[in-house]
Amino acid sequence: MTKFITFEGVDGAGKSTHLAWFADALRQRGMDVIVTREPGGTPLGEQLREILLNQPMSMGAEAMLMFASRLEHVEQVIVPALHSGKWVISDRFSDASFAYQGAGRGMDWDKLKELERWVTVQPDLTLFFDVPVEVARARLANNVSLDRFEQEQGEFFERVRAGYHRRVHEKPARYAVIDAAQSLAAVQQQLAAIIATI
Ligand code: TYD
Repeated sequence: MTKFITFEGVDGAGKSTHLAWFADALRQRGMDVIVTREPGGTPLGEQLREILLNQPMSMGAEAMLMFASRLEHVEQVIVPALHSGKWVISDRFSDASFAYQGAGRGMDWDKLKELERWVTVQPDLTLFFDVPVEVARARLANNVSLDRFEQEQGEFFERVRAGYHRRVHEKPARYAVIDAAQSLAAVQQQLAAIIATI
């Protein structure tokens, strides 16, 4: 049964807005849902998020801190919630490390797979909000302050998007690819169709 769901996409894909709608739709169907995020989701994870989003650092340190936040999150939040029968929706998870640190920054894919072996739970379903990079960039232009990742150039996000596609290609059964360039209402229709299957 589908219980652990992750949301992924390049910055500006609109996943956070859709996540709130999706969580409410599940709650209306009577599911007990918790919403969480990465990096973050625990007191330590939120401190690491602050550092990761603002402090320049080496590629390896960035990858390991992302996974440090993740391991804490899995142990303190995700596994206990799943054990108590809750549904867990996480705004980003391991796929983001492959897309951003792997494809975006250029960290070796196999090294990331070694780090992923520390993660004891995998999502049952990942919604990948796919959008052309120009569309995502245009949406971000309204933000007043951009973090260290959002400040990257267009080519970085092209690589990140390609990294997500590579992950989908490696394990297609786990993903639902959402056309996030469409209107809010049209994306919600795509989400409603997914909810009908879970
Ligand atoms: P994001 O989830 O987009 O939050 P917000 O909507 O508040 O901006 O921000 C998290 C950033 O962290 C995003 O730019 C992607 C990056 N990130 C990684 O590079 N690797 C990871 O493993 C994770 C979880 C996130």
